[in-house]
Amino acid sequence: MTDRPTIEDLLAPVAVIPVLTIEDISDAVPLARALVAGGLNVLEVTLRTAAALAAVETMAGALPEAVVGVGTLTRPEEIVAALSAGARYAVSPGFDPDLVAAATRAGLPYLPGVATASEVQRAQRLGLGTLKFFPAEPAGGIAALKAFAGPFPDLRFCPTGGIDQSNAADYLALDNVVCVGGSWPAPADLLASGNWQAIEERARAAAALAARR
Ligand code: 3PG
Repeated sequence: MTDRPTIEDLLAPVAVIPVLTIEDISDAVPLARALVAGGLNVLEVTLRTAAALAAVETMAGALPEAVVGVGTLTRPEEIVAALSAGARYAVSPGFDPDLVAAATRAGLPYLPGVATASEVQRAQRLGLGTLKFFPAEPAGGIAALKAFAGPFPDLRFCPTGGIDQSNAADYLALDNVVCVGGSWPAPADLLASGNWQAIEERARAAAALAARR
């Protein structure tokens, strides 16, 4: 038994999940502080760098008000590592029933990715109700999500990939979109230069999109 929230519980209050790729562990806490100060408190740290799990641990420890999860999860063993680091949820770019089973066994709220109707069908058969739609823009964007609403009226999506401040509101206006993800609040150049003020301002603008849902 677990008293962990579901992925739906975690995403319900959120409009934008910043997708973070952290190269330097010393960036983790100032980055998280800037995002939370701007109003984004559900954070996704991609497992693409050597510093990722340590970043999750230090962010979760320093900012209890943040909900820190991992992204780019592609192997079942990463679920255990993510949980040990203090991750509250996990996200994958693609759909893999073995990962769904591993996340369920571990009790970790999980958002797998889909890009096609076939993947949505398989996810639906496993009982999943909320999915990442990735890569959103190349995979058909808003038109694809509108098309999914016909055959899959009960499914909800978090589109990610090619979304930024200019098009996020259009996605959030769709009934089957719960939130969007993207790297635009904390892009690599602002991270590299340690421009926390600019990241906080981007986070504030992104958080304001909640009103557009
Ligand atoms: C990713 O996996 O990199 C995310 O989907 C972010 O995509 P973006 O950089 O296009 O926002």
